[in-house]
Amino acid sequence: MRTDRARRLIVGNWKMNLDQAGARHLAAAIATAAKAETYFSDMVICPPYTLLHAAKEALAGSTIRLGAQDVFWEEKGAFTGKISPGMLVDAGVDYCIVGHSECRGRFGAGAVEPRLARYFADDDETVRLKFSALLKHGIKPILCVGETEQERKEGRADQVVHDQVSRVIVALAEDATGAAVAYEPVWAIGTGQVCDPEEAARMAARIREILDRCRQTGIRVLYGGSVTPENAEALFAHEEIQGALVGGASLRVDSFTTIVRYAG
Ligand code: 13P
Repeated sequence: MRTDRARRLIVGNWKMNLDQAGARHLAAAIATAAKAETYFSDMVICPPYTLLHAAKEALAGSTIRLGAQDVFWEEKGAFTGKISPGMLVDAGVDYCIVGHSECRGRFGAGAVEPRLARYFADDDETVRLKFSALLKHGIKPILCVGETEQERKEGRADQVVHDQVSRVIVALAEDATGAAVAYEPVWAIGTGQVCDPEEAARMAARIREILDRCRQTGIRVLYGGSVTPENAEALFAHEEIQGALVGGASLRVDSFTTIVRYAG
């Protein structure tokens, strides 16, 4: 059995999927599975905002935590369409994803017309504001970073990821223990093209170095991008990979819980 320090964190990012009934059903099924079996990893599900309440109710009495997929950094005011960290606390949220590539407008080829990508406008500065606002409210941020296929081809993957992590973490005044950084190469998201586990572990180790230099030793480093029951074991063979951020495979109880099982 793992010690507390080494527990992995498995996060299901439901993205823009499901409805009230579907969310209730899936969350309840995951909670039931977690009661029937002992998992040695921490589990979080991140439904869309409108389904947080249904999922929260379905998770009642379980150890699975609730997460959101994004946040705005201001507390209240004239910000139509935005959700504040305080509102997430009020909704019973413990974790929140920030800087997902889909919120940065960094999609794989063809997912969104290039002229519309500017609608998804997050950058390192807004991600930093969100990360820090969440910490102030006691919500654990899950910071997503990762290079595009083009950046990898040009040999810039390490630099891109280094910049994305350090621009958020270096000037951080707060201790971010409990937070996570997810290495999610854009080209691996939703493509079925998982990153080679050795390479994912190497990138995770690079991220760990930055976190250690910033004395943020309580932040876990996760991998995300086409994680499935078929590749989870190979990914988790690497200690550097301290968890997973799972998209598509988190929408089915059997695939999600199988991944959790492989996490040890
Ligand atoms: P997939 O697991 O569907 O590739 O999505 C990964 C992801 O973006 C999780 O945040």
